Amino acid sequence: MWRSLRPIGRSDASGGYRRYAWTEADADCRLWFRMQAEARRLDVETDRNGNQWAWLGDPTAGDAVVTGSHLDSVPDGGAFDGPLGVVSAFAALDELRARGAVFKRPLAIVNFGDEEGARFGLACVGSRLTAGRLTKEQAYELRDADGISLPQAMEAAGHDPAAIGADPERLAKIGAFVELHVEQGRALDLSGDAVGLASAIWPHGRWRYDFAGEANHAGTTRLVDRRDPMLTYAETVLAARREAELAGAVATFGKIAVEPNGVNAIPSLVRGWLDARAADQGALDKVVTGIEAEARAYADRHGIDLTVVRESFTPIVDFSHTLRDELSRLLGEKTGSTGKVPVLGTGAGHDAGILSESIPTAMLFVRNPTGVSHSPAEFAAEDDCVAGVLALADVLEGLACR
Ligand code: GLV
Ligand code: MN
Ligand code: MN
Repeated sequence: MWRSLRPIGRSDASGGYRRYAWTEADADCRLWFRMQAEARRLDVETDRNGNQWAWLGDPTAGDAVVTGSHLDSVPDGGAFDGPLGVVSAFAALDELRARGAVFKRPLAIVNFGDEEGARFGLACVGSRLTAGRLTKEQAYELRDADGISLPQAMEAAGHDPAAIGADPERLAKIGAFVELHVEQGRALDLSGDAVGLASAIWPHGRWRYDFAGEANHAGTTRLVDRRDPMLTYAETVLAARREAELAGAVATFGKIAVEPNGVNAIPSLVRGWLDARAADQGALDKVVTGIEAEARAYADRHGIDLTVVRESFTPIVDFSHTLRDELSRLLGEKTGSTGKVPVLGTGAGHDAGILSESIPTAMLFVRNPTGVSHSPAEFAAEDDCVAGVLALADVLEGLACR
């Protein structure tokens, strides 16, 4: 599976993945998912929000156990973020069949669409729509960098956007969702464990900063006469770092658009996107308010008009304690170990976090020896991936086969 998925959407130049929603690479990932499902005699469907489901058993029976993740990527993303959860789901099913497991509950493997939000700017679009946390009207407003709207992109990829929106009937048929994911920090590496369980996801969001100044000639405009938005942007990036340190949070400007983007022109507009996250809401509010206050002070001083728009926000997620305790018990039971499976929080967003408001949800993490993620250098060792598959198989067996 890993070998067949590896070339899809991979850039030869960077070695990273460019699997953006509703593109050709995305279609190839979806075809790959369908082929894996059909090879295992699972029934495949694409829901109205573009998420793919592969069913073993009757989807309408209720109390289904669902596992899976996403196949899309950030720009030049790694091979593991998302795909490890999907590949592990199919591999865990193979393992359970080899064990002769008898399923008492329906099982589904899911590939959520557009988790990273790399193209339309909003993360977890597929799960947000399904959970009713993004309305059809809001989704219709989303546009990519070329001005193509989400419904246009869906339509071009052969998906009818007319029916997108909340899908409570589908969620009502799910009893538990378990997402396996590569860890995106080094907690497991430091604790010496191959596999861990998630406790919580930090509250996080994305804010768009538009710094508007005056375009002018780079060679003939005196420094004192300039209204240069790049300066205010640069000062804001430094402020973000300072405020994050003060609040014990993280804040990142990782994407920027400049107009007119000429090497010999003072820009008329610099647009930067702030990604900010913290362990609690108080710290997040502190960092976000602090950055905006500093940016406004700089903007006033340099004659820059600043507009700040919150493009998305996800509140803190505290995963179901009942399901987590159940998973912990199942994993301990299987290994016969008395040591507890480590439980860790994360600053990364996941579809599991979106669904956790609607259904009992849990996450398994697989050790990442460097902690690097959202980069071509993202890695997990094969032994640890296998440990993840076996842990997922134990969990699914405990939930669906007893
Ligand atoms: C998704 O991976 C995110 O945390 O941005
Ligand atoms: Mn990611
Ligand atoms: Mn992910």
